[in-house]
Amino acid sequence: TKAKQFDLRDIVASYPDFPKPGILFRDINPVFRRNDALNYIIDEFYRAYGKAKVDAVAGIESRGFVLATALALKFGKGVVMIRKAGKLPGKTLKKSYDIEYGSAVMELQQNAISKGESVLIADDLIATGGTAVAAAQLVEEIGGKVAGFAFIIELSDLHGADRLRKMGYKVQSLVT
Ligand code: PRP
Ligand code: HPA
Repeated sequence: TKAKQFDLRDIVASYPDFPKPGILFRDINPVFRRNDALNYIIDEFYRAYGKAKVDAVAGIESRGFVLATALALKFGKGVVMIRKAGKLPGKTLKKSYDIEYGSAVMELQQNAISKGESVLIADDLIATGGTAVAAAQLVEEIGGKVAGFAFIIELSDLHGADRLRKMGYKVQSLVT
């Protein structure tokens, strides 16, 4: 196999004071732009979760959608969208949560997951973990199980991934 010609850490861009003063924003867009990086990412997560029971991949709006779709194709499964509130039709469940730079409400359609299905939850980045915890609660409250979490970036000083691990979830991140 060919040696990888890049380090994800070098491809992630950083923007000081975005979207608010004091936030150093880690931008995943240059990673998504590269086919070699995308292939590396799905292979790494397949190595971590390929033997686990995964019935669907849930993406967290909005950058999580990109990762979830790539993973779903690799796993041979479909995608579930966990969205900011007000965008999904039909019967839904809502959860409010805090993020590094604000607060928001996430929503999931009741019919998106069947009882007992295992869902791998994907997002570009975990910071405080508020979003991820809300996503897990939504999946579990509509009867699903969380197979684990897949994050490309973990902001370790905000301890979100530690929080999830303490709750008993499997968490895989590629850049810390
Ligand atoms: C970012 C990121 C995660 C979340 C992480 O999304 O993509 O979803 O924040 O923060 P947390 O671990 O502190 O909860 P953002 O809310 O900026 O939404 P977007 O992807 O729609 O821009
Ligand atoms: N980048 C992207 N999303 C985020 C960040 C970041 O640095 N911090 C909290 N959510």
